[in-house]
Amino acid sequence: MQRRVKLAPSILNADFSALRGAIADVEPFSDYIHLDVMDGHFVPNLTFGPLVVEAIRKLTDVPLDCHLMIYNPPEWIEAFRDAGADRISFHLRSCRDHESVIRAIRHLGASPGLAISPEVPLFELKPYLGMVDFVVVMCVYPGFGGQKLMPEMLNRVTAVKRDAAEQGVTVEVEVDGGVKTGNLEQVISAGTDTVVVGSSIFGSGNVAEAARDIRNILDG
Ligand code: DX5
Ligand code: ZN
Repeated sequence: MQRRVKLAPSILNADFSALRGAIADVEPFSDYIHLDVMDGHFVPNLTFGPLVVEAIRKLTDVPLDCHLMIYNPPEWIEAFRDAGADRISFHLRSCRDHESVIRAIRHLGASPGLAISPEVPLFELKPYLGMVDFVVVMCVYPGFGGQKLMPEMLNRVTAVKRDAAEQGVTVEVEVDGGVKTGNLEQVISAGTDTVVVGSSIFGSGNVAEAARDIRNILDG
């Protein structure tokens, strides 16, 4: 059976004055809506918090994939879960005790993920592969949409899967940053389970059409 790759549009580059329409446009083609939470410290940009997640929750039934790029995630995960986050990922090096954050996310009934930025070596992920449901492989330095995908990061997708297999576990991999129609085949063949696509959907003239095009490529 052919592997079905999931699509998670990132609203980071959407028109926030018309979010309802933007989400409605991508909804039919989406497995998750990807929400980029930034605190202005862990990354050099500031976006939104639980209040906006809660508002988005009211706009769609599509599961919400919350990508926390913040320091001190334990302080916030409950608020994001209460706001309606279904999957919550946080970053390696964003806190002291990753294991307890993973456990707390699961305890709250959400699916835990760990994100790894390009400058962080892959071995730092190894101790957590058996604990998380998914790993977010960043293919840009987190902070902004519209950057160019670093193709050398795609090797990490295979490497994460291999490391997990060596430990006798399986983990899903989400690729985030710089994904567009032009590099989608490459991203898929790396073994990716979920692709995050931001500016190339929401920065396009026709959001629904752009999402449909990506969905069609993912479905082969
Ligand atoms: C980067 C974010 C990504 C990204 C997606 O810090 O995590 O979700 O903005 O947007 P594009 O597809 O434009 O790179
Ligand atoms: Zn993201």
